[in-house]
Amino acid sequence: MSEPVSVQSTIRQEAAPGPVILLEEVRKRYGDRQAVAGVSFEVRPGEFFGLLGPNGAGKTTLIEMMEGLRQADSGTVTVFGRPPWPRDIALLPRLGVQTQSSAFFVRQTAREHLRTVAALYGADRAAAERTLASVQLTEQGDTRVEKLSGGQRQRLAIASALVHDPELIFLDEPTAALDPQARRELWKVLRALKSAGRTIVYTTHHIDEAEALCDRVAILVDGRVAVLDTPHHLVASSGLPTRLLVPAERMTVEEGAAIPDVRRVTAEGGSLVLETSEPGRVLSAVDRLIGLHDVQTRTATLEDIYLDLTGHLQSSEQQS
Ligand SMILES: Nc1ncnc2c1ncn2[C@@H]1O[C@H](COP(=O)(O)OP(=O)(O)OP(=O)(O)O)[C@@H](O)[C@H]1O
Ligand SMILES: [Mg+2]
Repeated sequence: MSEPVSVQSTIRQEAAPGPVILLEEVRKRYGDRQAVAGVSFEVRPGEFFGLLGPNGAGKTTLIEMMEGLRQADSGTVTVFGRPPWPRDIALLPRLGVQTQSSAFFVRQTAREHLRTVAALYGADRAAAERTLASVQLTEQGDTRVEKLSGGQRQRLAIASALVHDPELIFLDEPTAALDPQARRELWKVLRALKSAGRTIVYTTHHIDEAEALCDRVAILVDGRVAVLDTPHHLVASSGLPTRLLVPAERMTVEEGAAIPDVRRVTAEGGSLVLETSEPGRVLSAVDRLIGLHDVQTRTATLEDIYLDLTGHLQSSEQQS
C-alpha cells in the first residue's frame, strides 16, 4: 500500500564524524519564563533521538533552536559542526523540518504544495509524488490544502519535511493528529529513513511510540534534561516495581501482603495487584499458593518512568 520513501544510497560524509547535533548549556528565556534552562547533549549520526516532556517543558523551543528558527540566549548549538543561527544557507538543504504549527500554501492542492516545497529545495516532481505516496496522500493530491482534514494536513507537513531527502529530520509531534492506522504507517516511513542512515529528532506525547522508535530519549522537565538514555536502560534502572495481577477471588489482600518480597498490595478492577522488585520469587510463591492460571505480569514501561518523573504516577494508577 505505502511506497517506501526514496533515499539516496550514500550520505555525505563529514570530514571528522562527530555528533550531528551538539548542545552545550543552552538557555532560552521568554520574559519571566525560563523555557530552556541549561541543556547539554549530543545527537549521533543515524540516531533516532526522542525529546519527551509535559506541555511547556521546552521541547519546541529547544528543537527550534536546533533548526535555526530561534536564537539561544546563551550556550552553544552546533548542527553538522556549524551554528544554525543566524540562518545558514549551507545547512538548509541538509535539514528537514516539520514544526508543531506548520505553514502551508493553503490555496494550492496537496500535490502543488509539495511540488512547490520540492522545487524550493531543488528536488523534482518525482520526489514529490513518491513522498506524497509515502504518507498515503496520493488520493488527496488534487484536494486544496485548506480542505484537507487535520490529520491529512499533518501528513502533508511531514511530507514537506521529507521531500528533499534531508540527512537530519526534525519532527515536532508528527503523530499528534494522526489516526492509529496513519500513525503506524508513519512509523514504517520513519524506520525506513533510519535504516537509510538518516538522523531523526522527534517529539511526541505518545510515550509508547518513543519506546518503539527511539534509540535514546531525553525527558525534559521545566527546561532541563531530567534523564537521557535508551528506553531499555531507563526502564531497567528505574527501580519501578513489576506488578502481578491475581484474580481477586483467588487471594485476599492479607494473603498477598504476607508473601515475602511483596512491597504493596492493592485491589484494582477485579484483580489483586502485588508490587514487587522480585517477580520471579513472588510468582513462585503465588504458584505454590493458588497456581498461576490467569495470573498476569506487568513490567514497568517507559510511560511509567515518564509519569514517575513528571509527577503524575498516582493519577494514572487511579485510572488503570
Ligand atoms: N513565543 C513565545 N513567547 C513566550 N513564551 C513562550 C513562547 N514559546 C513558548 N513559550 C513558553 O515557553 C515554555 C516552553 O514552551 P515550549 O513550546 O517550548 O514547550 P513544549 O515542551 O514544546 O510544550 P508542548 O508539549 O505543549 O508542545 C512554555 O512555558 C511556553 O509558554
Ligand atoms: Mg511543543
